[in-house]
Amino acid sequence: MPKILVTGGAGYIGSITAHLLARRGYGVVVVDDLSRGHQHNIGSLPFEKLNVVDTPALVGLLSLEHVDAVVHFAAYLSVGESVAKPELYFSNNVGGTLSLLNAMAKAQVKHLVFSSSAAVYGTQELPSIPEDAPFAPVSPYGETKLMVENVLRSLDRYSGLRSIALRYFNACGSDPESGLGEEHEPETHLIPLLLKAVVTGNPITIFGDDYDTQDGTCIRDYVHVADLAEAHLLALEKLLGGGASDAFNVGTGVGHSVLQVLRAIEEVTGRTVPYEMGPRRAGDPAVLVANSDKLQRVLGWKPRFADLVDIVETAWQFEKNKGKREYPK
Ligand code: UFG
Repeated sequence: MPKILVTGGAGYIGSITAHLLARRGYGVVVVDDLSRGHQHNIGSLPFEKLNVVDTPALVGLLSLEHVDAVVHFAAYLSVGESVAKPELYFSNNVGGTLSLLNAMAKAQVKHLVFSSSAAVYGTQELPSIPEDAPFAPVSPYGETKLMVENVLRSLDRYSGLRSIALRYFNACGSDPESGLGEEHEPETHLIPLLLKAVVTGNPITIFGDDYDTQDGTCIRDYVHVADLAEAHLLALEKLLGGGASDAFNVGTGVGHSVLQVLRAIEEVTGRTVPYEMGPRRAGDPAVLVANSDKLQRVLGWKPRFADLVDIVETAWQFEKNKGKREYPK
């Protein structure tokens, strides 16, 4: 079976994808600098602690391990932080990826699955966003993802690097197979923060109710992390089977407002979520919903978790198990 290097494999989506690849029989090597990921997510998967800016170390590892393809997650992911510290985002997300791409060229590794984001689109007029919608990022985070996609398009043409960019919408939930879930520090994402508000009784702040949406709060497409991991596997199989470079949205095609997510949390937990209304957060587009027809048509992807309540249920199970959790061996 092919050998896959997973960068950022100690993170949320990265670790769940790495374990999925291993369960499906792939050889897996995880790389992470553990600055934001967690060692306990890696379990017994082969692991090298390094930052992807270390090109020589990556070249050595890619060659030594005879890596066939890379799935590249290692990046910072917070829209708000990227607005406050754009330089950090450009150097880590773009600089780190350029280093990886250099290493791949030197080690002659020709296949890459890249963690891109719906943030490349920004605010759109359409009810759901197809892949050929115009790019219009409204945060440095989104800019970094678009810059890397542009580099990948160029390398396809000039270096023969075959890559698939997966533009995630809002990843959430916990993975029933590995038992892993969302543990960002600090946490900025809606669903874990709503659950934290339920558990602690401290109100969550909702960032704006004056958007041009039905209830005034932002609308997002919440996609379960296990379905997201499956999309990486399909993309990888496509590339390893000789497929061309491409980009796909990964979302369910259904949008939920912040208040609708809050109601789903109340339904699942049976408790009231304390909240207060606050101002808008910089860098937030009003509506981001995927048109994922292409992913379904070309890669045969189908979400296992299509219902928001089912997704939230898995996040609640993870939250309830905090402290007594068993991590993968
Ligand atoms: N929100 C709140 N209060 C909070 C946290 C979030 O109201 O305390 C709102 C946000 O304003 C937004 C929605 O909940 O409207 C979702 O926010 P998240 O921070 O959970 O997620 P984002 O939509 O900002 O970002 C996520 C990923 C990005 C990706 C984007 C694409 O983190 O990497 O989805 O949709 F680019």
